[in-house]
Amino acid sequence: MSAPPDSNLVAVERRGEVAVVILRREAKLNAMSSEMERQLLGTLTRPEVTASGAVVITGGDRVFSSGADVAEVTDRSPAEVFAYYRNTGGVHEAVAQLPQPTVSAIAGYCLGGGLELALATDFRVAAADAVLGFPEVRLGIVPSSGGLLRLVRTVGTARARELVLARPRVGSAEATSLGLLTEVCPPGVVPLPRAVELAGQLAGLPPLAYALACQAIDAAAESSREAALLIERLCYAALASSDRA
Ligand code: COA
Repeated sequence: MSAPPDSNLVAVERRGEVAVVILRREAKLNAMSSEMERQLLGTLTRPEVTASGAVVITGGDRVFSSGADVAEVTDRSPAEVFAYYRNTGGVHEAVAQLPQPTVSAIAGYCLGGGLELALATDFRVAAADAVLGFPEVRLGIVPSSGGLLRLVRTVGTARARELVLARPRVGSAEATSLGLLTEVCPPGVVPLPRAVELAGQLAGLPPLAYALACQAIDAAAESSREAALLIERLCYAALASSDRA
């Protein structure tokens, strides 16, 4: 089968309440070119996504993403790096800020910017033979699409150092024990159906309570005890007086 045209690097399909966003550059292991990021940003604003109850991001049954397109990442000037984040590089933040529950379905390689994308979703379901890692420092750069921040929040500074500097790749079992993955499928089972099932369950939760709980959890990680307690109670107060359906 020939590669999809550049205009078709990201697809979206609905499965009930769940929008499944599919990276479609498999011949390049779903390497995230600027064009793919631009299309992903556009996809997030399509009605299939905005009107969904939850979003799953997948690269298909063979690979999630081998990360940023290496042909683009290493030759940027400082000004070009900032222009990149103004243009398409903010896609990870856009995913992180989706109001709905989000789940990554991870098969095969999930490296660099691909792992940063997976970390931008609320939950990660992986195949038993998925491979995760941050190759950036070996290329003379660092994960910079919110990945360091989210990695530290997810696994702590000591594990983050290990993963970014000392361990090029880890398998699913180890990634789960580190807290990087939510669930691993049995061997031979692709992760998308379980990711869609989990997303469907999350879509059934009261949306405002879900969104506030997610934000309060992130804020708690970086707040004083007093601020974190206040945020919890303000969330409760806001929800107690809202339509909780
Ligand atoms: N950027 C651009 N192209 C990529 C890519 C990336 N991140 N990852 C894979 N590709 C391309 C390869 O160049 C190759 O293209 P070609 O068939 O036109 O030559 C194709 O995808 C298949 O990759 P290949 O390396 O042949 O597959 P593999 O199974 O032997 O190795 C990896 C898989 C993931 C180990 C290897 O592709 C790799 O290390 N990729 C780079 C990962 C990386 O550094 N990502 C972070 C960037 S910050």
